[in-house]
Amino acid sequence: MSKNLYIKTFGCQMNERDSEIIEQLLAQEGYVATAEPKGADLILINTCSIREKAEQKVFSLLGSLRPEKQKNPKLLLGVTGCVAQQEGEQIRERMPHVDLIVGTQQIYRLPELLDRLSQGVTNKEIATNMEASFSIPPFQKLLNNTSPSLPAAAYGFKRFVTIMQGCDNFCSYCVVPGTRGREISRPMADILEEVEILVSQGVREITLLGQNVNSYGTANQVAEQPVDFPRLLREVAAIKGVQRLRFTTSHPKDLTEELMRCFAEIDNLCPHFHLPVQSGSNAVLRRMNRKYTVESYLEKVELLRRYRPDIALATDIIVGFPGETDDDFQATMDLLNRVRFHGSFSFKYSDRPHTRSAEFGDKIPEEVKSARLAVFQERQDAISFERNREQIGKKVEVMIEGVNETGLKGRSAGNHMVHCSDVVTSLLPGDLATVRIQHAGKHSLKGVLEN
Ligand code: SAH
Ligand code: SF4
Ligand code: F3S
Repeated sequence: MSKNLYIKTFGCQMNERDSEIIEQLLAQEGYVATAEPKGADLILINTCSIREKAEQKVFSLLGSLRPEKQKNPKLLLGVTGCVAQQEGEQIRERMPHVDLIVGTQQIYRLPELLDRLSQGVTNKEIATNMEASFSIPPFQKLLNNTSPSLPAAAYGFKRFVTIMQGCDNFCSYCVVPGTRGREISRPMADILEEVEILVSQGVREITLLGQNVNSYGTANQVAEQPVDFPRLLREVAAIKGVQRLRFTTSHPKDLTEELMRCFAEIDNLCPHFHLPVQSGSNAVLRRMNRKYTVESYLEKVELLRRYRPDIALATDIIVGFPGETDDDFQATMDLLNRVRFHGSFSFKYSDRPHTRSAEFGDKIPEEVKSARLAVFQERQDAISFERNREQIGKKVEVMIEGVNETGLKGRSAGNHMVHCSDVVTSLLPGDLATVRIQHAGKHSLKGVLEN
C-alpha cells in the first residue's frame, strides 16, 4: 500500500536537490510525494541554518506540527538538512515529538532508519555522522532504475547536477563548512553520466551545483585524473541535448581567466554569473576571511566583461558584519554603483553557532543593520530597473517556462524573466523562442515573439 510523503524544503539548491533525492529514494519504499502535509504518513522538514531567521522558521514549524502528531500518532515526523546536522541534539530536546533527525550526509540511510522506526524501535533516531566520502554515487543507481511514477523529467526541463559537496573556505560567518563538511569533488565521469541520463529524459537546461564550483577538482577529488572546472564545463557543454548550461556558486578568489574564457567560447554557457562579493570594504573582507580584496574583485569583473560584455552579474551582500563602520558600508555602496550588478541577494548579518564571527566584538545594532539593508536594496532595485531597461529593443532567446491563454513566460540566457502576450499553442515548456523586448519592469521584461 502506498504511503504519502510530504517534504518541506528550506534553504538553497543543495537542499532542493537533496529533497529530490529523498523523494526518489523513498519512492522505492512505496512513498508517493504529496503537495500538502494533510494526510501525510511521513513529514520531512529539510532545513537551513544559514541565518538565524531560517533556523527560527524551522523550530516554529516543528512546534506547529505537534498537534498533528497528537491527532495522528502514526504520523512520522523527521528533520533533515543543515539544522539537523548541527543542532540535532537541540531538536531532540526542544521537539521531543520529532521521530527522526538525519544529517546532510546520511539521507541515503532514510529507508533503513524508517524501517527501524516501523519495527517499533521507540527511542528516537538521530543520524548525523559526517562521512568523509562523496555521498552522491548511490543516486546514479537511483536514476537508472527510477520508478516509473517518478521519471527525472517529472521535475521539469531544468535540473541541478551536484558536482561537489561541502566547503573548505571557512568564511568567518558561515555555517556551511560545519553543516556540509569538507569539500569533495565528484568524479567527472559520474557527472557526465548523470547529465547524459537527464538529457535523454528530456532535460534541456543544466545547472552545475556546489558551494564553490570554480574550485572543482582542486581539493579531495574522488577521481581518476585531475580535472578543473573549466575542463568540466567544456565537457558538460559538449553533451548533445544540453541547450543551456549554468553553474552556481563561485568564489571570487577561484575565478580564473580560463573560466572567463569559457564565457566567450562556449555557446550554450549562459551569460549569467553569480559572484558573491559580500562587502565592498577590504577591512570587512579580511575579517570575513574572504581571501580577496575589492581591487582584485573589480579587476576580475572588468576582465570578465572583456570576455563577455553582455554577462549579467549577480552577487550576495552581507550588511552589518561585526565592526562594519559607516565608511565600510559606504564602500559597499560604492562597489554596487561601480559594478552595477544586475541583481543581488542581500542579508543582515546574523551570528551563527560554531562560527568565528559569532565571537567577534563590536556587533552592529539591529536598527542600523535594517537601515543599511534598506539603503542597499533601494539602490539595487533602481540599478536592476536600469539594467532591465538596457534590454529594450533587443532580441533575446527565451526558454519557455509556462504557456497559458494569456500568453507565455520564460527566461532569457541572462536569467531575466520575460513575458509575452502572444498565444502560440505549438510552444511548450522547455522550447526556445526569440522575443523582441519592448518593456522593462523592475523584476521582468515584456516583449513580442519574433521568427
Ligand atoms: N557558497 C556560497 C553561498 C553561501 S550561503 C558563497 O560562498 O557565496 C549564501 C549567502 O548567505 C552567502 O553568500 C552570504 O551572503 C549569506 N550568509 C551566509 N552566512 C550568513 C550570516 N551568518 N549572516 C548573514 N548572511 C549570511
Ligand atoms: Fe560559506 Fe564561504 Fe563556503 Fe560560501 S565559500 S559556503 S560563504 S564558507
Ligand atoms: Fe542553508 Fe545548508 Fe544551504 S545552511 S543555504 S541549506 S547548505
